Amino acid sequence: MPDKKEKIRWRERLIIALDFPATEEARSFIERMEGEAVFYKVGMELFYQAGPSFIAELKEKGLKVFLDLKLHDIPNTVKGAARSLARLGVDLITVHALGGGEMMEAAKEGVESVHHPRGAVPLLFAVTLLTSHDEKSLRQELKIFSSISEMALHLSSLAKTSGMDGIVSSAWEVEKVKKNLGKDFLTLTPGIRKVGDPSHDQKRPASPEEAGRLGADYLVLGRTVTKAADPAASFREILKSLETIKRQ
Ligand code: C5P
Repeated sequence: MPDKKEKIRWRERLIIALDFPATEEARSFIERMEGEAVFYKVGMELFYQAGPSFIAELKEKGLKVFLDLKLHDIPNTVKGAARSLARLGVDLITVHALGGGEMMEAAKEGVESVHHPRGAVPLLFAVTLLTSHDEKSLRQELKIFSSISEMALHLSSLAKTSGMDGIVSSAWEVEKVKKNLGKDFLTLTPGIRKVGDPSHDQKRPASPEEAGRLGADYLVLGRTVTKAADPAASFREILKSLETIKRQ
């Protein structure tokens, strides 16, 4: 059988984390990246300060936005919140799988209830267990007695049956998720470092090529790009390395 090479448009799968405390810094970073990055992650710190108008500004520039607010509340409230986020025209949002199946289904109903002028419904990704937990904190604080990996897989499966498009996953868990839940269930992977870059607080970073080879669908690029001496060059280098990867 000839190699069935899947052509992935990696530029649209690389999401730069705008982990900046203020909009001015985020704006000047985006300017430096013009013509390179097209997808940005806005998290709680920036969104709670800059608000919906900053998202509108990114969308007006033609950029894609991952709004990472990790919704977690009763289903009816999450449905309304997801609807409000979808109205901003964002491309990807997150919920906590620990909110339960009914809550995730409600999030999906919320995003689908909005008429999208460009026709795209935001992708919904579930966060399974926060990487700040360890098995001791799960057992002692949350009274969860499964191992982290069992629990993460269980929550991933719940996310899939509740209609989520995918989950946030470390590169090292992607193969297991795909094996158990299928290739079409998407994974979004933070903790990426170019070889030789400092790992900072990431415990087991993966290189972009490693994550790509393991099957990750979207990569979140933080300090490996934002703190590089030349962020645009760092981004180009990552893109180039991913474009050589062949996936079945
Ligand atoms: O700078 P760095 O590459 O470590 O940033 C990674 C980004 O991904 C940050 O915005 C961080 O909040 C996010 N993230 C993570 N680990 C997770 C989930 C999200 O690093 N488990």
